[in-house]
Amino acid sequence: MGWSCVVARAVAIFLMLSRASALTSDIFAAGKSDKEILDNLLKNSRYDKRLLPPVDGVLTVNVSVLLLSLASPDESSLKYEVEFLLQQQWYDPRLRYSNQSHYDFLNAIHHHEDIWLPDTYFIMHGDFKDPIIPMHFALRIYRNGTINYLMRRHLILSCQGRLNIFPFDDPLCSFALESISYEQSAITYVWKNDEDTLRKSPSLTTLNAYLIQNQTIPCPIKASWRGNYSCLKVDLIFTRDRSFYFTTVFIPGIILVTSSFITFWLEWNAVPARVMIGVTTMLNFFTTSNGFRSTLPVVSNLTAMNVWDGVCMCFIYASLLEFVCVNYVGRKRPLHNVVYRPGENPVTQRLPAVLSRIGIILASPLGDKKRESTGGADMVSCTACTGPGACTHTANNGGVSEPCFVQVRKKEPPHPIRVAKTIDVIARITFPTAYAVFLIFFFIHYKAFS
Ligand SMILES: *[C@@H]1O[C@H](CO)[C@@H](O)[C@H](O)[C@H]1NC(C)=O
Ligand SMILES: *[C@@H]1O[C@H](CO)[C@@H](O)[C@H](O)[C@H]1NC(C)=O
Ligand SMILES: *[C@@H]1O[C@H](CO)[C@@H](O)[C@H](O)[C@H]1NC(C)=O
Ligand SMILES: *[C@@H]1O[C@H](CO)[C@@H](O)[C@H](O)[C@H]1NC(C)=O
Ligand SMILES: *[C@@H]1O[C@H](CO)[C@@H](O)[C@H](O)[C@H]1NC(C)=O
Repeated sequence: MGWSCVVARAVAIFLMLSRASALTSDIFAAGKSDKEILDNLLKNSRYDKRLLPPVDGVLTVNVSVLLLSLASPDESSLKYEVEFLLQQQWYDPRLRYSNQSHYDFLNAIHHHEDIWLPDTYFIMHGDFKDPIIPMHFALRIYRNGTINYLMRRHLILSCQGRLNIFPFDDPLCSFALESISYEQSAITYVWKNDEDTLRKSPSLTTLNAYLIQNQTIPCPIKASWRGNYSCLKVDLIFTRDRSFYFTTVFIPGIILVTSSFITFWLEWNAVPARVMIGVTTMLNFFTTSNGFRSTLPVVSNLTAMNVWDGVCMCFIYASLLEFVCVNYVGRKRPLHNVVYRPGENPVTQRLPAVLSRIGIILASPLGDKKRESTGGADMVSCTACTGPGACTHTANNGGVSEPCFVQVRKKEPPHPIRVAKTIDVIARITFPTAYAVFLIFFFIHYKAFS
């Protein structure tokens, strides 16, 4: 191979280059249509879409997300549909076109298959909603070589809720963006304008989805799947509509349980009425609870709901059992021919006895009456008995025997009906109190009103 050959090749290349540069200034001349400019820009001989844009250092892709709609199929679901426009912006020096052209940007939407695009994919739990292929909204090439690529994505995200405090949990949905094949040293994704929150479309539509918090961050190192790939993450925190659960679950439950307490105010032997109240409230509670459960995800750790159902069920069942006890006790044959006097109120009659037992002496009419019944005399009870009918009281001042009375233990067993009524009266106080305590504990513990 001689020198002549080399020189000839060099001349040929020089001629070609000069022709190309002449052509370049031609094709972007004013008056050329944008189609012609695009066709020329993307010619195979000058543009290879397989190659990363030749920039100094790392290619930066500026990303932003504009929320279009949020939806959830129902209140209790952990699936959230998120529709958004994903904007990616990068710089490709090969696609600059000169100032002579009067176009601010070229609309390259129909050339999206001929242009290098970042191979962004989504890391997420969930699915793409149709269409699976992204909808291209805009692909614009600016004079200075900046490319703005807008596409619509519709994701169905499976979110993480803390089901053990359902329905007072706040599901967290997140997805991340990463390049399929370019490592961090080739492509870096950054949030456009360093925004750390999402933008929402002015016409953002929501259905059963209550977004309370959002953030856009670079992926935490641990969350990144493959280490050296640039990755961006979007976190969406939703909340559930508390009023929905109060109107469909908690208030009906409270009404049913307190209805079952009505039974304590009925006659101890009102069998049909009291059985009906107990059984109906129990059946109703089962139906309501099952109906609601059928809409829930089938998981085992619905602790809050289990506690709610279990405790309410227990209260209803216990009030039914209480009636069974009352009725059983009331029907027992009284011992020692005790006569039941219907006017008696078991509690007010027992009260003085109870109070005096715990050491409180009441100067009440009841106490006076008791003293009268002992004859009104200022007697003290005997402390020593030498035999039947020979009891004495030894006073402190010498061995003089004073008149005293033998304390007769009048402890005949109460009439069964009175016992039954007493049980009812006690239940009237304890059941509602215990239920109120449970309600307070439940709603505070699960932060229902936060
Ligand atoms: C990306 O954003 C940075 C600032 O955040 C900016 O300097 C750069 O020019 C942007 N790149 C493109 C291609 O828009
Ligand atoms: C192109 O226009 C910009 C402003 O629009 C100007 O700063 C730049 O010098 C121009 N370049 C050429 C080659 O005319
Ligand atoms: C290129 O032009 C677009 C639109 O005129 C502008 O938003 C962008 O910042 C420019 N980029 C650079 C690197 O100058
Ligand atoms: C994201 O949160 C910020 C405040 O933290 C709020 O200004 C912005 O509107 C929220 N974005 C959406 C889409 O709700
Ligand atoms: C990431 O890149 C660095 C060098 O840039 C390399 O030493 C390291 O092994 C890479 N890590 C992985 C997980 O590929």
